[in-house]
Amino acid sequence: MDKALLEKNANKLVAPGRGILAADESTGTMSSRLKGVGVSPSEEARRSYRANLFSTPNCQSAVSGVILFDETIRQKMDDGAAVPDYLAENDILPGIKVDTGAKSLANFSDEKVTEGLDGLQERCAEYFAMGARFAKWRAVIAIGDGMPSQACISVNAHALARYAAICQEQGLVPIIEPEVLMDGAHDAARCYEVTAEILSATFSACEVQGVHIPGALLKPNMIIAGKACTQQISREEVAQLTLKCLGENVPSNLPGIVFLSGGQSDEDATAHLNIMNSIDSVPWELSYSYGRALQAAALQAWATGTPEDSQKAFSHRAQMNSLARYGNWSETLES
Ligand code: 13P
Repeated sequence: MDKALLEKNANKLVAPGRGILAADESTGTMSSRLKGVGVSPSEEARRSYRANLFSTPNCQSAVSGVILFDETIRQKMDDGAAVPDYLAENDILPGIKVDTGAKSLANFSDEKVTEGLDGLQERCAEYFAMGARFAKWRAVIAIGDGMPSQACISVNAHALARYAAICQEQGLVPIIEPEVLMDGAHDAARCYEVTAEILSATFSACEVQGVHIPGALLKPNMIIAGKACTQQISREEVAQLTLKCLGENVPSNLPGIVFLSGGQSDEDATAHLNIMNSIDSVPWELSYSYGRALQAAALQAWATGTPEDSQKAFSHRAQMNSLARYGNWSETLES
C-alpha cells in the first residue's frame, strides 16, 4: 500500500475551500433526472450535460474532485479529451463509483446490502490506469419498524471495510459512505442513534481489516429528522448533533469528512456545513461531496436555458459551498 500517495490525495480532496462534486449517478438515475426536467435521456445527453458541468470556468477553486460513473470515465469532452485527463489537467482529481448498487438483503427484504466486491481489485486497477485517484462506495441504511437490523449494519460495515482495503491496495483513496436515509417519520434522536451505530461498526471493521485511516475519507449523512417527522430541528441543532455524533464515532486521524446532501434543499446543505465550520474546532476538515445540492439548479438550467446558464448555476452553488468551508457563507449571498 502506497500510504504517502493515499494521504496526499485524501488531503488534496479536502484542501481549504474545496470539496467534491458527486456526478456518479448510475445510468438509470441520471436518465430519470434528465427526464425529470424534460430532457430525453441518451448516452450523448448524459455526456454533454456532464461535460458542460466539468468545463465550468474556474470551478476548480471550489471543486477538488469529481466522482464519475463507469460510463462517464470512458467518455470524452467536447474537444475529444478523455474526461479523467481533462479533469486532471484542470487540477481536479478524477474519482469513480465502484459499488454496483444496493440490493435486497437476504432474510431482510426491506433492507439493502451494497454489492460489488467480486472483481473489485481488477476494476480498481483498471480505473487507476485510466487516471482515477479516489473511489466511492455507498451503503444505504433505512430507518423503520425494526430497522436497521443487526444484519444490515453488520454486512454493510463489513463490505465498506473490504471495499476500502481493496481500493487502498490499488492506490485509490476510498470514500466510505454509510448513508442513513432521511425517508420516514423518525426523529433526529433516532437518526443520531442509527448513525452512531453504523459509523462505529464501520470503523471497527476498518480496524480489523487494516484500512489506513489517514488515507481515507468519510461521506456521512447529517443528523436530521426524517422527512415525514413533525418535529424538525433547527439548522443549528443539525450542526451541533452532527458534530457530536461524529466526535463520538469517527477516528481523529481521518483527514476529512465530506458530507452527502441526501435530499436536503440546496441552501440547507450549504447552511448546515457553514454552521459546522463556524461553531467548533474538530480534528477533520469538514467539506462536501454533494450530488443533488450542487447540481439541481444546474440541471434545471440545462433544460430551460443555455449551457452557460447551467454553468453559472453550478458555479454559484459551488462557490456558496466553498464559502461554507470557512464558515463565511450567509443567506444574503444567495440572491
Ligand atoms: P447527494 O448529495 O445527492 O445525496 O448525492 C451524494 C452521493 O454521491 C450519494 O451517493
